[in-house]
Amino acid sequence: MSWKVADIPDQKGRVALVTGANSGLGLETAKALLNKGARVIMACRSRPKGEAVRQIILESNDSTKLDLIELDLADLASVRRAAEQVERQYSRVDLLINNAGVMATPQTLSKQGLELQFAVNHLGHMALTLKLLPLLAKQHGARVVTVTSGAQYMGRIAWEDLQGIKHYDRWAAYSQSKLANVMFALELDKRVRNAASGIASLLAHPGLARTNLQPKSVAANKSWQEGLAYRLMDPMFQSAAMGSLPQLHAATAPTAQGGEQYGPRFNFRGYPKLCRIAPLALREEDRQRLWSISEKLLEI
Ligand SMILES: NC(=O)c1ccc[n+]([C@@H]2O[C@H](COP(=O)([O-])OP(=O)(O)OC[C@H]3O[C@@H](n4cnc5c(N)ncnc54)[C@H](OP(=O)(O)O)[C@@H]3O)[C@@H](O)[C@H]2O)c1
Repeated sequence: MSWKVADIPDQKGRVALVTGANSGLGLETAKALLNKGARVIMACRSRPKGEAVRQIILESNDSTKLDLIELDLADLASVRRAAEQVERQYSRVDLLINNAGVMATPQTLSKQGLELQFAVNHLGHMALTLKLLPLLAKQHGARVVTVTSGAQYMGRIAWEDLQGIKHYDRWAAYSQSKLANVMFALELDKRVRNAASGIASLLAHPGLARTNLQPKSVAANKSWQEGLAYRLMDPMFQSAAMGSLPQLHAATAPTAQGGEQYGPRFNFRGYPKLCRIAPLALREEDRQRLWSISEKLLEI
């Protein structure tokens, strides 16, 4: 059976926070949850960009339960401010969708001097999640969905050079950050289960979806070859709406469980199905190692 947006159960009364909700998969996720009755908090790096998209969504929607907060995952101070604002403004959060991301950026540092992809895709989301856990734990059936990528299967954690200081390869750094997403989500699931918090942590990957991710990467790297490759690969890409289905399924399907990963049926495209986790993320010792290193980095 093909699971579609129409299958999302009623979300009335629930609050969902979606990072990177002004574009691509985050935007589709925000719209779908809003249409199903949730209050949606769009957590966006740029307030003007976020506000413009928020207005467009509101124009074509009966619900006005769409809020915006500023969140720059490349700056841990901004993550702290965003989490504090959520704690102050909302009495509940039922769904946290760790969706925002950057891909294959030229070597760049975050505000705290960490490699940008590791900082935005993994560390910033880890910081946000840990700060929001007490609020999530108040809600029966709260879920955290972390959006990873098929790049997880190619990913390696460069334990001796996590920040790519000795050697930086932008694709290896992306794959590392997406494997880190998986390791984080699984370790989180174990920890919230052990604490009997009632929270479930799940994973989703979209396959190949037409969003701003690829054009941004081409522009940042000034790579016409990459631009050409994406044009040739275009028939393999699915729409952003289709790409958002695995994360929507992980967030809302009553059958989805903590520790599971959903992705497209045919790896790159298709309706969501339960899918295989990267073998390297299954090593518990490595997950704990990454967790402790990340915790230390979050103290910077
Ligand atoms: N599209 C695909 O084929 C594909 C495949 C595998 C995995 N994914 C994953 O899917 C997720 C969503 O990506 P997408 O395809 O929807 O790309 P997208 O259209 O480029 O959206 C990415 C979102 O992340 C936000 N973002 C980037 N840096 C941020 C920061 N420092 N702080 C806060 N937000 C930030 C962007 O904000 P701005 O608009 O301000 O830049 C944007 O809202 C990512 O985690 C990506 O790795 C996508």
